[in-house]
Amino acid sequence: MDEITSLAKRRGFIFPGSEIYGGLAGFWDYGPLGVELKNNIKREWWKSMVYEREDVVGIDASIIMNPEVWKASGHLEAFTDPLVECKKCHARFRADHFSELNDLEKEEDTWVEKWRGFYNLRHSNQGLDEAKKAFQEFRLKGKVACPNCLQISEYTEPKSFNLLTEVYLGTTQPKQKAYLRGEITQGVFVNFQNIINSTRVKIPFGVAQIGKAFRNEITPGNFTFRSREFEQMELEYFIKPDEKEAWKVFEFWKNERLNWYINLGIKRENLRFRDHSLQEKAHYARFATDIEYNSFFGWKEFEGIHHRGDWDLGRHRLTYKDPDTKEEYVPWVIETSGGVDRSLLFFLLDSYSKDGQRTILKLNSKLSPYKLAVFPLLANKEKLVEEARKIYQELKTKFNTFWDERGNIGKRYFYQDEIGTPWCVTIDFKTLDDDTVTVRNRDTTKQERVSVGMLEKYFGEKLK
Ligand code: GAP
Repeated sequence: MDEITSLAKRRGFIFPGSEIYGGLAGFWDYGPLGVELKNNIKREWWKSMVYEREDVVGIDASIIMNPEVWKASGHLEAFTDPLVECKKCHARFRADHFSELNDLEKEEDTWVEKWRGFYNLRHSNQGLDEAKKAFQEFRLKGKVACPNCLQISEYTEPKSFNLLTEVYLGTTQPKQKAYLRGEITQGVFVNFQNIINSTRVKIPFGVAQIGKAFRNEITPGNFTFRSREFEQMELEYFIKPDEKEAWKVFEFWKNERLNWYINLGIKRENLRFRDHSLQEKAHYARFATDIEYNSFFGWKEFEGIHHRGDWDLGRHRLTYKDPDTKEEYVPWVIETSGGVDRSLLFFLLDSYSKDGQRTILKLNSKLSPYKLAVFPLLANKEKLVEEARKIYQELKTKFNTFWDERGNIGKRYFYQDEIGTPWCVTIDFKTLDDDTVTVRNRDTTKQERVSVGMLEKYFGEKLK
C-alpha cells in the first residue's frame, strides 16, 4: 500500500484531502491523473450500462433529499454499524471488523500479517516469527488484542452507530436537519413515477446513476477503500414480482458485472463472488452477493449485487401499472452497486507491476489517463521539436496526449510506464526523411515504425 499511495501522490492520482491542514480521515482528492482515470472508469460503466442497452435509462438525483426519504427507506433506523470501544485506550472500532481482525481460527495468516503490521509500527525490526509467537501466546490466552494499543483489553458492548451524515439547512432556528445520502439509490426510487411518465420504459427496465455518497464510517482506512465521501455507480433493475425471474435477472447481472471488470483488465483469479450471510445482509436486501477483489489486505468487496425485492418501492408506497394488461403491482428490484473509488484503487493495485527498475501500471488502454505521449528525440534540435509539436497538436485533438521533452528518452519512457500510458511516439531524424515515427508499446517495450499519416487510424484501431 505504501508503494501505491506514494505513486498515487507523486504522480497526481490521489492526494490526502485538505492535506495542508493535516488532512481529514476518510476524505481524498483526485489529482490531474486521478480525475482522468476516474472519468474513464465512469465513462466505461455508463457506456456498458446505458448506451449499449435498450432497457436502461440514466438519471442524476440530488445528494440531499427530504429526510422523510430516509425514514421510509429504513436507513434512519437500520443503516448502522456495530461500534465497540477499547476500555484501555478508548479507540473505537467496528465490532464486525474487529472480530474479523481477531478471528483466531479462520484466517491465521491474515491475522498474523495484520498483527505484524501493527507490531512493526511500534517495535521495528520484528519479523514474521516474532509476530507468530506473539500471536500464539494471544491464542493460548484466548483473549484478543486491541489493534490500537496492542494490549489484551476489554471492550464495551457493541452499540448501533448510524452512518448517515447530518447536515443543517436554512437560516432560521431551529435549522432543518437533513442528511447527505448514504446510498445514491433512493434518488432512483423517489423518481420512479417521473421516469415512467417521461420516458417509454416498460418493465423490465433499469435506471442507472453515478454519484457521490457519504457515510460517517467508524474506521475509514486502507487508503480510499473505506472513505467517508465516495462515488457509487448503480443500476436499479425493475422486474415483475416473480421469484424465478428474480433469480434469472440476479444471475445475469452478477455475470455481467464480473465480466465488466475482467474485460477492463482485472485478473480473473483476483475476483470472486461471495454470498452474504443472513446476519450481514443490509436491511433492504432479500439476498446479496459481493464481487470481491483479492487485495493484499484480504478479499474485499468492490461491488454488491442485491435482490431488494419490493422493499423500497413498497416503503415509498409506489406501484406500477402495466400499460398493456393494466395489472398493478409493486415491482421488485435487482441492484448492482459498485464503488468508483474502490474500482479505481483495485485497478491501480491489479495493474501495478515491476520489471527490474521499471514500475509499470498495466492499465487497460481504455482506462489509462493518457493514451499517448509524444516526444522529440532531442529537445535541442529545432527541426525535431517543430515536427514533434505538429504531430502532438494533431493527435491531441483525438486522444488525451502527453507532451514531454525533458531528460533523455529512457527517463521519459519510465515516467510514462509509471502512469500507465500505453504508447509513446518518438520523432527522430528518420522522421524528417521518411515521415515515420517510432511507436513504443508500454507492456512489451517493442517498437515499430508507423507513418505519420497513419497514426490516427493506428491508435483509433487499438483503442476500439
Ligand atoms: N445501494 C446499495 C449500496 O449502497 P453497499 O454494498 O453499501 O450497497 C455499494 O455499497 C458499493 O459502494 C460497495 O461495494 C463499495 O464499492 C462502495 N462503498 C460502500 N461504502 C464505501 C466506503 N465507505 N468507501 C468507499 N466505497 C464504498
